[in-house]
Amino acid sequence: MTQQIEQQQLQQQALLRDAMRRLNMTRDAFASRIGVSRRALDTWLLPDESPESRAMPEIAARYVAEILAGMTENDAYTQSAYPSISFEGRPQLLSIDQFSRDSAEALFRTADAMQPIARRKKITRVLEGAVLANLFFEASTRTRVSFGAAFARLGGSVCDTTGFTFSSMAKGESIYDTSRVISGYADAIVVRHPEQGSVAEFARATNIPVINAGDGPGEHPSQALLDLYTIQREFSRLGKIVDGAHIAMVGDLKYGRTVHSLAKLLSLYKGLKFTLVSPRSLEMPAHIVDRIARGDHVIEQTSDLRAGLAGADVVYATRIQKERFADENIEGYTPDFQINQALVDDACGRDTLIMHPLPRDSRPGANDLATDLNHDSRLAIFRQTDNGIAVRMAIFAVLLGVEHQVRHSMRDATWKSPASIGPDDAVFQGFD
Ligand code: CP
Repeated sequence: MTQQIEQQQLQQQALLRDAMRRLNMTRDAFASRIGVSRRALDTWLLPDESPESRAMPEIAARYVAEILAGMTENDAYTQSAYPSISFEGRPQLLSIDQFSRDSAEALFRTADAMQPIARRKKITRVLEGAVLANLFFEASTRTRVSFGAAFARLGGSVCDTTGFTFSSMAKGESIYDTSRVISGYADAIVVRHPEQGSVAEFARATNIPVINAGDGPGEHPSQALLDLYTIQREFSRLGKIVDGAHIAMVGDLKYGRTVHSLAKLLSLYKGLKFTLVSPRSLEMPAHIVDRIARGDHVIEQTSDLRAGLAGADVVYATRIQKERFADENIEGYTPDFQINQALVDDACGRDTLIMHPLPRDSRPGANDLATDLNHDSRLAIFRQTDNGIAVRMAIFAVLLGVEHQVRHSMRDATWKSPASIGPDDAVFQGFD
């Protein structure tokens, strides 16, 4: 495939995904709107390395562009042209509350543009010379490494510090001093800290972008964004939209900051059903339930795992956050409170998505998401983590104001990488 055709196909995919999002249409409805078969639309959305991938005829591309140009305030859902992320007027990502449905979806358009880089087909150097300080005062694998990788894939460099022991906070240095000092060294700060509200304290001491990578049991906004991005991409393939979906959130809903941020983000959509499944001592905090209840959503709370999963479009499992326990009694949270192959086959549908922010506890006897689902294509956990790179690249690009430079700066990657990253990903070859 020539570079020009490849470039056209990347553009056609971004255009089609943008159009479906802005029109809030399933693939079937969109195919019907533009007068083509669902199969034809699928082939235009396939990754360019797929043998079934096809270029969209120019006349179809012009028609889609005309539909978008003709969208008005009266359309079912209109989207602002440019993403923006700000907190009190500054480029900082502290809470998912900073997002509207509109601004989240504008960010996803930028994430779509990052996919060829995240998939190692293209490179960019738009952040060449910029430095990220990745400050993690709590354990992390994916958030720390993926923020670092996302910054590096945009051309920047990354400095890390992990844990209190090897930071001068162990000598009593304040958050204010730490943040101000690091601001003299770096162009952006990503922080994870065990205390709720601590990342906002970092942000108050600096004018450079700060990103909350998890503040105790508070929030994890970038995780919620990549989760919603994943749900939308998976739903697109499955012919669904987020409005009206049934989401079952399972596990430690009290301390699981990822479900706090995701529940608030999903509540921006219409007519969802939330089933909140947890032991009684680990129920979703009342302020999050109240927040969901402000929308036109149905909320059910249960400690019955099997009943809670029934009919769900998405099962979002979480790890029990023992490190945050005070005096919780988790009676009833026995090893059979586990999402495994037998339960999924029994309680879930053929196209139910099984998600988890990870890490999951894979030790014997752990009542977390079981590893026996690893070969089940409904398990979306590694598609979530892969999408994390594109979404975090988009966050950096927007916060540092380079999002419009990325598309024109892309060059071919010169090294060889496998067509599918994981051994089980081939199941999805040609379907994403
Ligand atoms: N999902 C998540 O926050 O993972 P880590 O704790 O590994 O960063």
